[in-house]
Amino acid sequence: MKLTTSTLAALAFSGTLATAGDVEVLHWWTSGGEAAALNVLKGDLENQGIGWQDMPVAGGGGTEAMTVLRARVTAGDAPTAVQALGFDILDWGAQGALADLNEVAAKEGWDDVVPAALQAFAKHDGKWISAPVNVHSTNWVWANKAVLDANGIAVPQTWDEFTAAVEKLSAAGVTPIAHGGQAWQDATVFDAVAMSTGGPDFYKAAFIDLDEEALGSDTMKEAFDRMAFIRANVDDNFSGRDWNLATAMVINGEAGFQMMGDWAKGEFLNAGKTPGEDFLCFRFPGTQEQVTFNADQFMMFDQGGVVSDEQAALASAILSPSFQSAFNVVKGSVPARTDVSNEAFDACGKQGMADLAAAASSGNLFGSMAHGHANPASVKNAIYDVVTAHFNGEYDSATAVEELVDAVSIAQ
Ligand code: GAL
Repeated sequence: MKLTTSTLAALAFSGTLATAGDVEVLHWWTSGGEAAALNVLKGDLENQGIGWQDMPVAGGGGTEAMTVLRARVTAGDAPTAVQALGFDILDWGAQGALADLNEVAAKEGWDDVVPAALQAFAKHDGKWISAPVNVHSTNWVWANKAVLDANGIAVPQTWDEFTAAVEKLSAAGVTPIAHGGQAWQDATVFDAVAMSTGGPDFYKAAFIDLDEEALGSDTMKEAFDRMAFIRANVDDNFSGRDWNLATAMVINGEAGFQMMGDWAKGEFLNAGKTPGEDFLCFRFPGTQEQVTFNADQFMMFDQGGVVSDEQAALASAILSPSFQSAFNVVKGSVPARTDVSNEAFDACGKQGMADLAAAASSGNLFGSMAHGHANPASVKNAIYDVVTAHFNGEYDSATAVEELVDAVSIAQ
């Protein structure tokens, strides 16, 4: 094209000289804190002249997003990039649906900086098939500091201290536990409760190795009993509530605690709250040494065997150290690279980074069952069903244990 004065003027008017395409991004980051974090990524790409077509599918944990994704792929209309977790990524990779990101990964040295636990879910057959954004973990508790102070409650270190704190709040007429009754949220709590009840060997045997003995054990029954205690200490309107509305109850002082992954911190920050002053973050009592992690990644769908410029730009933006810091500070997660400074992070973020490094080196880092890092979706969903049915009173703990053994064995 011959650049005449008028075409140059038109290009200048449109704000960009590059004829860059768009990326269509399917994701489930629709809460206030999640959207604020996503804006960091959108802004990064917009600065490179790449347009963002947003494809949000509401529903924490991504169950609904994965259903929409399957429909889109079946219809031959896969989005450019898709937020995904753990075993779902490996599953799409095994189907040959994902682009090979090895060129950009090699150029930018991902092999050297992304932790091994994440690489295990980001590569298929030696090929990078997705770009890790962060590391979240599920064994956190979020507390309203003023509510705890007013009731003379110190951060509980053990399950017994936790039950004592809950009973104190209950006696004072405060909702002890903010919870949203959705299967993935029940399962998120169960991650931490199972870890705390049985310890890391039990968690690994039951959720990662799917060992029948562990699944059917007295320890598992005890874990279900503890879930029943939690169920007895949520408010009457918990059923179906979105996770961020449960977080809002803690933010507003309507409830004392929420057991939730560290995406909850994004909601506190988005509401202008400060850790240590307005809210407290601490590991679920009895899991101080462990980290049950999940990492959000963006898979790039194959577009005829080539990685498009936009896909490469998105992948490289996601892994850039400055983005890893800026995004995760807002999101509540920690960087997916080991070489990012903790300087910009608040106290909870600094603890999250230190806990992750310590857990990785002491053998205490485990994939989250609730968030797709312990098993493929079929097994995860089978566990969800039993945990939720028990939480809603359909099974007593002994029956839940039997159902769990059966459901997991059928799902494999
Ligand atoms: C998790 C995801 C987080 C957060 C959460 C609630 O599965 O890893 O990034 O979005 O769901 O939506």
